[in-house]
Amino acid sequence: DRSRRRFLFQTGAGVLAAASLPAWLRAMEMHGMPKLAPNRASPDFKPDVEIELAARQGAISIPPGQLTRVQHYTGKLLSGPKDTLTELPSSYLGPLIRLHKGQKVRIHLRNDLMEPSITHWHGLHVPALMDGHPMYIIDPGETFVYEFEVINRASLYFYHPHPHEITARQVYYGLAGGLIVNDEEEARLELPSGEYEIPVVLQDRRFNAQNQLIYGPHMHDRMMGFYGDRILVNGLPNAEFEVASRAYRLRFLNGSNARIYKLGWSDGTPVTVIGVDGGLLESPETFPYVMLAPGERLDVWADFSGRPKGSELTMRSLPFSGVLPMMAEHMMGRGGRRGMGGGMMGGMGMMGAMGLPVGSDYPLFKIRVTRETGESPRLPSRLAKFDRYTLDDVANPGKPVPIAISESPMAMLLNGRSYAFNDIQPFERIPIDTVQLMEIFHTHGGHGMRGRMMGMMGGRGSGDQSEGQGMGMMGGMGMMFSMAHPIHLHGDQFQVISRTVSGQRADGYATVKEGLVSSGWKDTVLVMPGETVRMIKPFHHFRGVFMYHCHNLEHEDMGMMRDFLIE
Ligand code: C2O
Ligand code: CU
Repeated sequence: DRSRRRFLFQTGAGVLAAASLPAWLRAMEMHGMPKLAPNRASPDFKPDVEIELAARQGAISIPPGQLTRVQHYTGKLLSGPKDTLTELPSSYLGPLIRLHKGQKVRIHLRNDLMEPSITHWHGLHVPALMDGHPMYIIDPGETFVYEFEVINRASLYFYHPHPHEITARQVYYGLAGGLIVNDEEEARLELPSGEYEIPVVLQDRRFNAQNQLIYGPHMHDRMMGFYGDRILVNGLPNAEFEVASRAYRLRFLNGSNARIYKLGWSDGTPVTVIGVDGGLLESPETFPYVMLAPGERLDVWADFSGRPKGSELTMRSLPFSGVLPMMAEHMMGRGGRRGMGGGMMGGMGMMGAMGLPVGSDYPLFKIRVTRETGESPRLPSRLAKFDRYTLDDVANPGKPVPIAISESPMAMLLNGRSYAFNDIQPFERIPIDTVQLMEIFHTHGGHGMRGRMMGMMGGRGSGDQSEGQGMGMMGGMGMMFSMAHPIHLHGDQFQVISRTVSGQRADGYATVKEGLVSSGWKDTVLVMPGETVRMIKPFHHFRGVFMYHCHNLEHEDMGMMRDFLIE
């Protein structure tokens, strides 16, 4: 029966060891998947923390004036420490969830939306059944009960929906939240906390004249991912933080669907990074700027000591290239500066959709010093201890698990395949309790794409200006279709061991490379055109199906997602 099979699936006992996948799993075609009963609370699980999260529709004030209709998470603490849930003031973002390593957590996810959903705890390593795989979607009115122990290191994680093909839209309309894990190692460092620790969730959105969110599923929005023309920080536009002249800890999460940021302080102060996706680094590292792709997090030490009361500082996104198809990047830059959608890209409706060019220079938020103080914590020179993997640790030194990025006019693929539920390939089956060398390569972009790409896009032209001209120009010039992808792997965190770039588009790479943080534990890595990224990832604790996918959410929904079967 179903629950017994699910138990076997979760524990991996028997069924997954068989040469072929179980019949019920085989039958679960993504689009005609038999309905699974939502997981229920287990009487044997004794939670330290119990939370109710509801995914629901609401209306909230974002730009001043008329309320904006959103989808969002609301939370209620049923039992556990009082500081487990913190509401962000007047934000559609879900409550900030604070957990401690070792805690047993039960979360009741209630779907009060009008459509199916399921929630994933991005970055946390939990049993497959608790991981928010799209096969576990629940219908409106249903509740899915998650039960897991927090085994991750202290860091900022990210919860968001994961239903196949509608993840991007649900995140865009507001279903997202931050989840902070604390642990002993971190506590000993006495890093800035309380009001001195600020979450910074970066997202971009577009609003119509009635303050309603616009989400345009044009072809180019799928191919490039959706770009907004307004930056929201913690769900609000024009963000400003009032600070004292001392050190702060800024916890960045890029919760945007597709937008990649190049973070830099307006006065050229280097960015001091103390942690990444999976927790603190061994020691602080400084960068002239830092890249932050969708799904990635950054722990930044920001010291405002010595800055006089009344002084201001801005965190900006700085100019760069190489993340979008070349022509789009070029045109977005031009169109954006001129504030119009005319000219060549008009035919594709692209400029209309992208008022804020991705590679341009624009402000994200402002820091205003409102209090002077002589006291500030000092930046610790050593942060965390962990072992760095080497090739000696891996089970497959000569044969990395491949993750090939490929782009075609109609789809973004991983390992040459689009997402299908029951399609696990031999190289996607990984023995439990092994450490694997993995290689993401993005070295085929651009080949043979030019004519086909343009033919297709010209035909879909939806811009309101210069339509005919746009198509003609684009068709004539061709386009190199090769863009950056943030690749995210569920399950254990991994370590990046090398990045190499070759061939075309290396010029774009040069504009971002000093801001790629490659030390520490990661679950999402930005892969630039022409790049090969090697990582080492342990597959411990849990058997079952865990996804890997592009965290450009439009790409993910388009099928740039696959499953690993840990067996
Ligand atoms: Cu943040 Cu599989 O996702
Ligand atoms: Cu992608």
